[in-house]
Amino acid sequence: MNIRTETSNDFKAIYDLNYEAFGNRDNESKLVERIRESSGFIPELSIVAETNGEIVGHILLSKANVIDGEDITEVIVLAPVAVKPSFQKRGIGSRLILEGLKIVKELGYGLVLLIGHPSYYPNFGFKPARQYGIELHQFNVPDDVFMVCEVKPGELSLVKGELRYPPAFF
Ligand SMILES: CC(C)(COP(=O)(O)OP(=O)(O)OC[C@H]1O[C@@H](n2cnc3c(N)ncnc32)[C@H](O)[C@@H]1OP(=O)(O)O)[C@@H](O)C(=O)NCCC(=O)NCCS
Repeated sequence: MNIRTETSNDFKAIYDLNYEAFGNRDNESKLVERIRESSGFIPELSIVAETNGEIVGHILLSKANVIDGEDITEVIVLAPVAVKPSFQKRGIGSRLILEGLKIVKELGYGLVLLIGHPSYYPNFGFKPARQYGIELHQFNVPDDVFMVCEVKPGELSLVKGELRYPPAFF
């Protein structure tokens, strides 16, 4: 299994992978394309899992802001992550998430936020975000699915406010 940054040669395979993983719908495939064309895109944070020349997993992390009045903090949001159904439950999703978090840390960002399964992401250090004073108004989701991972120690005591997903997400 090779975990690496995407290249333009992977775009079609990533589209097809997201289409299949999310139940034969193209919402997430199109989301990836919109983010890739947006100012929030960070090339190192579109990561694929490849085996025998086939793309079997993909994760995308990109820029968003936490806004508190005049204070704006650039953070990272994780979405989407997908593993080809026939390759799921073998740890590929975990490897992609851990690799993404590692690169986020290397790039110097402090927080990663997401909306996701409350039983899966705590494995990687994600915790419910609202209890730390981070709000979300753009999506009406329960407390336990809106999660944050503190990549830079101490960051959660410094950053408060509303997470704003950029226009590419809508
Ligand atoms: C969510 C998703 C990316 C996870 O990918 P994955 O490669 O199956 O993830 P992992 O293998 O790391 O972990 C999945 C489960 O398999 C288990 N697992 C990991 N390795 C395993 C192995 N070798 N044998 C058996 N089980 C294993 C994990 O413990 C985990 O169980 P848990 O949910 O009880 O914690 C994948 O299921 C997917 O693409 N889903 C559809 C798209 C989606 O919903 N994406 C997330 C929203 S953005």
